[in-house]
Parts: sequence; structure tokens; C-alpha cells
Amino acid sequence: MLPHKQIEARLQIAVRAVLPDADAANVLVRPCDPKFGDYQTNALMSLAKVRKLNPRQLATDVVAKLDVADVCEKVEIAGAGFLNFRLKQTALEATLVAASRGEHLFFDKAACPRTVVIDFSSPNVAKPMHVGHIRSTGIGDSLQRVFRVLGHRVISDNHIGDWGTQFGKLLLGWKQSLDHAELERDAIAELERLYKVINADCDANPSRLEEAKQELVKLQAGDEENISIWKEMIRLSQIQFDTLYGRLGVKFDHTLGESFYNPWLGGIVADLLASGVARESEGAVGVFSDGKLPPKEDPFLVNRDGEWVADPALVRKSDGGFNYTTTDLATLDYRLKTWKPDEILYVVDDRQSQHFKKLFIAFNRWQPDAAKKVKLVHIGFGKILGEDGKPFKTRSGDTVKLGDLLDEAEERAFKVVSEKNADVTEAARKEIARVVGLGAVKYADLLPNRQSDYMFSWDKMLAFSGNTAPYLQYAYARIKSIFRKAEVSGAECQVSGIALRAPEEIALAKHFLNFGITLEAIAEEHRPNFLCNYLFELAGKFTSFYENCPVLKAEAAERASRLVLCDLTARVLKQGLELLGIEVVEQM
Ligand code: ARG
Repeated sequence: MLPHKQIEARLQIAVRAVLPDADAANVLVRPCDPKFGDYQTNALMSLAKVRKLNPRQLATDVVAKLDVADVCEKVEIAGAGFLNFRLKQTALEATLVAASRGEHLFFDKAACPRTVVIDFSSPNVAKPMHVGHIRSTGIGDSLQRVFRVLGHRVISDNHIGDWGTQFGKLLLGWKQSLDHAELERDAIAELERLYKVINADCDANPSRLEEAKQELVKLQAGDEENISIWKEMIRLSQIQFDTLYGRLGVKFDHTLGESFYNPWLGGIVADLLASGVARESEGAVGVFSDGKLPPKEDPFLVNRDGEWVADPALVRKSDGGFNYTTTDLATLDYRLKTWKPDEILYVVDDRQSQHFKKLFIAFNRWQPDAAKKVKLVHIGFGKILGEDGKPFKTRSGDTVKLGDLLDEAEERAFKVVSEKNADVTEAARKEIARVVGLGAVKYADLLPNRQSDYMFSWDKMLAFSGNTAPYLQYAYARIKSIFRKAEVSGAECQVSGIALRAPEEIALAKHFLNFGITLEAIAEEHRPNFLCNYLFELAGKFTSFYENCPVLKAEAAERASRLVLCDLTARVLKQGLELLGIEVVEQM
């Protein structure tokens, strides 16, 4: 067990001894300002408060029962009743030795594994994936990696948009204006073209719109020809998706698109009507406000000119078609029944936040008991902006296609890499450029707080200095070059003893111990940017260590001990980047 977990476990025992009725599991230990120690707990103060005890007295009583002498220096009671813990150097060194032997990499598997469904990426069929998809895909993938490494059970599900009114127009376009040669050449571009042509046609000409509607009705009724064209469109789109996911290294356990839930939609609307969760209004069916929330917090109300008016979640249109919410209710029901998750995470941009608020409330009214058993979270995120502060577009004002963006990332990285490594073969430079270019784009997207919009800047994300992927990848490769010079491998430098003397060595060693804490915080708060910042700090602490403590020139025991620090840094960097979906190269 890692030292902070040991402290936490023993602290909980001491708290139980003093306050048998307290919920000791909530007594947590967190890293703190090094001024005060390495770890701190503030939990005793709230325990004292609800019991009207003197918090410092409670702290004194708990410390009297607390046995952490093997892990910490003397425990300090501070301020209004904080406990501060400072790790014993021997405990720190022992933790590093165990890590260097491969017993752990500074994180533990979750004591109570959870089942987590992650709904992410979810592009729409017959449309190109664009730059915006990097957000949901990257954040969702990083979350699935973190949950998995911590030992949780993850079910990733790509909820692709493969059903809906757009297929009426697409079918009409396919039947009347399909260019087979173009479909061969670039299927998605051709589908996009068809949609645009027919859409414009329908806008100008109501009879065309009627024809498109008829195609949709036929599709929904199971018409053989329309079903087979529709399936072909999905197949062609999936090829595009798979190519991009392959490049990005993203995998899903399931791709259950919207159409999968079709058979249940009618029954669900009937059920919602019968139970009074939904009602009819102007021919449509919707879920409305129940008036229990203050209007400002009620997603079923909008303010129009100072007045609160109904903004229902529609589940059936007046023409009988079903809505996005209906499908999402069916999806939620299916996921709960099939996988019994503790949590479902929806990684979808913030523009859909009202949709998810309505969805979660509607589901709660529909199935209150099932809703109690699951935590539903919308993991929202902001927009990508161009350097002009407006949504990121190509020079001609079109949305940036994801494939083009990744190509450009690799091309630009190739230029940078070629300047730095003129002596390396072109094939090797291409491979480094692939890793660096894709890493740069992903990292730049994961680094900001996900809810803020961020500015897309090639120069910034591809820089080898600053908080970027290339900087971290370079830090990794540099450590690998130390091992090449030392003519030993990381695996060979397992030692029995590590001696930490210089303050830079100690700071680096202590930072290792925060790796698992960071991963756990991500699993709680769903913020991969915590890991970016952790790794950036790690690289910084490694640099100060390396600048102040000679490694290869040190005498034997010290050299071995310091090589372990190098090796552990490389391993944590590699594992950390991998959790962000970013690769490393051994040499660059
Ligand atoms: N396909 C949808 C879109 O592009 C995103 C789906 C997100 N997932 C969900 N369960 N609603 O907007």
C-alpha cells in the first residue's frame, strides 16, 4: 500500500476508536503545501463541528490513538484542527525501491471497483468527423484509460448518429444524384454533397421536401431498398470512423448507434404517457416542468422577454417521429439493464447541457428506483477557437475535417523534427513526426480546463518548451539517452537501496507519490487536465534534479540510486502520456 493510503487507513482506525459512530471512510488524507508537510487531513474539524467538540481536543485524542511511526515523522496538529503528516525518508525510499522492482507504479487498484459506461465521440453517419470531435474523443478516451488502469470496469460505447430525419434527404439524394465515381473516391464527401444539394432543393421546393419525407417513412417502415442504402451509408461512414480511430489509437467496446434503440421508442412514449411523466401538447408529446425547481434551475423552462415559458423535452413529434431525447431514454434504460453501471458519463459538448439536464430529470421521473442506483454525469466541454477568437475554421471558412487536421499535425511535426534530427532517416523522422504531431494535438486539447474554450495554435502545441506533448516526449527520450550512455537499461538498474540526499531528489521522489492521487482525482472529477499538469511538473522536477545532481559521473552507489530516479521518471512519463492517449519514442 502506498504511504498516503497507509496513513489514511490508520487514521480511520484511530478515528473509529475515538468516535465509534463516525463515518470514518470519509476521513481522507491529501497532499498539501510542503510548508506544512507532505499530507494533511481537515476531516477532524467537520467531525468535531457536528458533535460540538473542540476540534483541537479531538485532534489530540485521535493522534493519541494513531500509530504511523513507521511511515511518518511526529504528526502535527495545526491551526483549527488540521493534522499534518511528514513522510519518513525511509518510507519514501522503500516506496521507490518497490516501484523500481515493478511492484507498483505509484498507484493502487481501486479498493471498490466501479462499473462505468462512457459515451463518447459519437459522430454522425454520412458526415465527416471534424475538429470538434477531437474533444469528445480525446477526453472520453483518456477517461476510459484512467478508469481501466485503476481497475474499474469500463464499457465504452460510441453512440453514433445513424438514424433521424436527415436520412430522408440522404436517401432521396442517393437515388437521384449519386455520383458513383465520387462515392468510390471519397464516400463521405459525396454523401455530404448529396445532403447539401437535396437540402437546398427541399428548402426551395416543398414537393421535394415531401419526397424526402416519403423516403424517410419508407425507411422507417422497413422498405428493403431504403434499408439497404441506409446500411451502406453506415458502412461507408464506419470505414471513415475506424480509420480515424485507428490513427488516434482509440477503441470502443461497443458502437450501438441511435438506430439500435428504435424498437423500444414507441413503447417508451406509451409508458411515459401512461405514467403521466409526459403529456400531449399541440399534437406532440413532451416532458414538462413539474414546477418543483426554481425557474432559473429548471431546464424545462426558458425565459422569453422576462417571462418563464415551457421548454419541454419532446419525445414524439406531431408527425409521429421520435426525438433525440426518446432515443437517449431508451439508451439509458438499455445500459442500466445490460451493464448495471454505477456511473454513466456522457462526454458531449456544453451546447447539449440543457438536453442532458432534461434527460436526467425525465429519466428520474420515469424510473425513480433505477435512477437512484446510478450516477449520471454530463462531461461537458467548450469550443476550439481560431487565433482570431472565433470558432476554428479553415481559411475558406469551412469546418476543419479531423483527417486533414491530423495530416497537417504530422506534416508540421515532420518539419520541426527534421530540423532537430537532420541525421536520422526519413522513415524514422516520419514515425517521430507521427507520434509528436498527434500527441501535440491531443495534449493541447486535454490541457485546458475542459469547460473553457481554447485557442488552437500550431506553434504553441508543437513547441518543445512549455506545457506541451513534445516537451514531455522529449523529456522521456532524453532520459532514454541517459541509459544509452550509461550502457544499462532501466530494468537492469533495480537496486536494493535508494538514498535520497539532495533536496531535488527528495522533491522528485515525493512527486512520484502524487501520481496515483492524481489519477484518482481524475476518476472522481473527470478532468484529464490534472494529469497534464502533473506530468509537466514531473518533467520540471526531473530537470532540476538532473541539473543539480550528476548521474553518470556520480560514484557507484549514488549513480545507481540516481539512475533509478531517472528510470522511474521515464516510466511515469510514459504511463502518464499513455493515459492521455499519447505515445512516446525512445529517441528524438
Ligand atoms: N451524435 C450526437 C451529436 O453529434 C452526440 C451523441 C452523444 N451521446 C448521447 N447519448 N446523446 O450531437
